[in-house]
Amino acid sequence: MSDQPATRPAPSDHIDNVLHENRVIAPSEEFAASARVSPEQYQEMYRRSLDDPEGFWGDVAGELVWMKPWERVLDWQEPHAQWFVGGETNIAYNALDRNVARGLGDKTAILWEGEDGEVRTYTYSELLREVKKAANVLTELGVQKGDRVTLYLPLIPEAAIAMLACARIGAVHSVVFAGFSVSALADRINNAQSKLLITADAGYRRGQPVNLKANADEAAQNTPTLEKILVVNRAGTNPPMQPGRDLWWDELMNAASAEHEAVPVDSEHPLFLLYTSGSTGQPKGVLHTTGGYMVNMYLTTQTVFDLRDDDVYWCTADIGWVTGHSYSVYGPLLNGATVLMYEGAPNHPDWGRFWEIVQKHGVTILYTAPTAIRSFMRQGDDLPAQYDLSSLRLLGSVGEPINPEAWMWYQRVIGGGRCPVVDTWWQTETGGIMLTTLPGAHPSKPGSAGLPMFGVDPAIMTHEGEELGPDEGGLLVIKRPWPSMLRTVYGDDARYRKSYWGEIPHVYFAGDGARRDADGYVTVVGRVDDVLNVSGHRLGTMEIESALVAHPAVAEAAVVGRPDEVKGESVVAFVLPQSGQEVDPGELRAHVAREIGALARPDAIIIADALPKTRSGKIMRRFLRQIAAGKEIQGDTSTLEDPGVLERLAATEAV
Ligand code: WTA
Repeated sequence: MSDQPATRPAPSDHIDNVLHENRVIAPSEEFAASARVSPEQYQEMYRRSLDDPEGFWGDVAGELVWMKPWERVLDWQEPHAQWFVGGETNIAYNALDRNVARGLGDKTAILWEGEDGEVRTYTYSELLREVKKAANVLTELGVQKGDRVTLYLPLIPEAAIAMLACARIGAVHSVVFAGFSVSALADRINNAQSKLLITADAGYRRGQPVNLKANADEAAQNTPTLEKILVVNRAGTNPPMQPGRDLWWDELMNAASAEHEAVPVDSEHPLFLLYTSGSTGQPKGVLHTTGGYMVNMYLTTQTVFDLRDDDVYWCTADIGWVTGHSYSVYGPLLNGATVLMYEGAPNHPDWGRFWEIVQKHGVTILYTAPTAIRSFMRQGDDLPAQYDLSSLRLLGSVGEPINPEAWMWYQRVIGGGRCPVVDTWWQTETGGIMLTTLPGAHPSKPGSAGLPMFGVDPAIMTHEGEELGPDEGGLLVIKRPWPSMLRTVYGDDARYRKSYWGEIPHVYFAGDGARRDADGYVTVVGRVDDVLNVSGHRLGTMEIESALVAHPAVAEAAVVGRPDEVKGESVVAFVLPQSGQEVDPGELRAHVAREIGALARPDAIIIADALPKTRSGKIMRRFLRQIAAGKEIQGDTSTLEDPGVLERLAATEAV
């Protein structure tokens, strides 16, 4: 299947939706005076990162430990990059052993709070010990360098321990978000051909145990490569264990030796796979490798978050998403930071939970998503006002465009007007932050992500590859390779070439629409392909459509996004029933949840008697988007087979 979207909205469709915003918010003098990167330093570092990438990246990489030095910083054979060619290192060694060796052994590495209020902490020495034991457990189970291990875990310390243990032995982790369904899990295990799955009996969500082991058991019926399932006992739910296949994490950890030498791996050795949605039905396995990813996580985390020794850093993302990989685990641990992790929902037991956590643990840096900020905003200013948030000194946002109102609220009510807000644009594919304002160095413009990070060379282009000028809306591209870029789509290099480097010749195509102002600030307005962003989660419309048509009562389906005040976008499904069949909306939603996960459940379902198609049979999603948003139909409808269908659809109540 091709990655070419069936219909592509003109970038201007999106641009028009974003109001021009003129506010400019400078960092406080106090913050700027002691910021890690000053405006002049940014200029100089950024220039050097483009003019002398060998020197720039070589210097950053030199702060980390390499078991064998690299011979060349970059080898670029478009579209394949190799960074730190010939070098050998280990990212878990750099995150743990290296920090213990430089005296951080007694510093808290992970400060974890369970949804039920339980708190567990690990110092760097303790975390290292756990990771060494887990590395021995994996090795004893037969996991070897290069083998893929799938993780399906709640946000518990064992998730980070398992990731780091894989990295320590050169195994490739593939984390599957615990909210994904049985079939999504099975697909990802099969694509990666994992031999081992690490899961938990259950995880907590709003006080209820969510039975992960039962899902794992069901998935394991259709995953021929899977040999063992390692089970963390999180909730004491006592699931059935299949002898010979299922093993308890704790039992093996208790028996494991705490002696382990990290395995040196080639700089380009695969570190992890992370599946994400594209324009076609099958999620793609984004492959990241070791050296370049490590170096860029190390650099971006310290500069974007202005990290200090005594920070308590909290990124609220689940480890099932790239933000959890890069900015809850690898980036902060490489920098020897104290990382807070919270297992549960932001509204359990109520919407004050985040603020209670900030107060209780003295959180200084908070990195969260616009959808969460908008939900908090809805609860009003009084709730956060009941907590002492004065420990906060920096706020971050990621995952979707943040509307200026939510930005201002975050800055004023949560940040007390004193904390810089960094809006960070990046993607699963980019590995790390690509566009933002550095706190202390750059004023912020609410709603605009900002300026390029080191080594990032962005442009706004037309489909034809023509570079656009200030304030012209177009496609966001990156003009040269950067260290943490994806290396390929796992098992499908043709798809990698086509989706990312084939859309516009010689540049990386991000899939987003954007514009750049005269100061160089980039405002990202949203996807221009058939990818939705629902509460910061990427969902392919085609994936949801395939799930819908897999239901026996559905003949055809088309899915579009509709602007949503809290979620950013919500899922609207137009469904054509099989003749003579009734579609039960509740049943259909449950079906989508079973096929993909609850996050993909349509908000609105419109039962249709026909879909707007061209004479050649192509569904015109552009019109469906207008109908879903309750807008007037705009555009040329003359190419439609039956233009009357639009009126009928617009008159149909959603269910
Ligand atoms: C969107 C999440 C505007 C964008 C790190 C991108 C954003 C997709 C921002 C990647 C932002 C992420 N402003 N849009 N600050 N951050 N996006 O792979 O559409 O889950 O292409 O990575 O989220 O989502 P992903």
